Amino acid sequence: MLKIKTAVLVSGGGTNLQALIDAEKNDLLETAEISLVISNKEGVLALERADKAGIKREVISKKEFPNQMDFEEKLNQILVENQIELIVLAGFMSILSGQFTDRYVGRIINIHPSLIPSFCGKGFYGLKVHEEALKYGVKITGATVHYVNETPDGGQIIMQKAVEILEDDSPKTLQQRVMKEAEHIILPQATEQVARRILKEREEK
Ligand code: GAR
Repeated sequence: MLKIKTAVLVSGGGTNLQALIDAEKNDLLETAEISLVISNKEGVLALERADKAGIKREVISKKEFPNQMDFEEKLNQILVENQIELIVLAGFMSILSGQFTDRYVGRIINIHPSLIPSFCGKGFYGLKVHEEALKYGVKITGATVHYVNETPDGGQIIMQKAVEILEDDSPKTLQQRVMKEAEHIILPQATEQVARRILKEREEK
């Protein structure tokens, strides 16, 4: 069967990447094929996960480029060389410009650890999101997979899953539960859903 070559962009632990790798292994990804992992940081656990799964990986560090445009040019070059049709941001801690996202409309998705539009946008990433949710006192949080456009966390929502906040939650325990109960479930599902849409559009052309 024809597959949609998918790149996963990471910056850290890569538990969401692992969820995608496991989903592919368990035949939960039928249409998306994880064919490339790109990290903007050397030495992160996500790269080890890619190696272990035998997935090609690249490191592109922003520091090596004079500006955002040159960094994104290199990123685009690698994606094109690898015939990537779908880009999954899985804990990728670098904001992409509108110039870049415009090249991939409907083909970049991101996982965010809250129910957008709560606790999202510039500055809301990683543990900070959960700290703010606890500070605010919301009783329900969760995760969102959305399309990526020029506005941080501003693209159309694809999938969401709610997670209950417990009385004794710390930012860390909440982060772990949101990952396990929401992110790692909806990211593979949304990836497959979008890959199917891309394949269908290609077949209709
Ligand atoms: C995840 O919780 C992801 O939702 C979050 O970073 C973590 C990465 O973990 N992303 C953001 O906050 C983006 N704004 P992982 O490397 O173990 O997948």
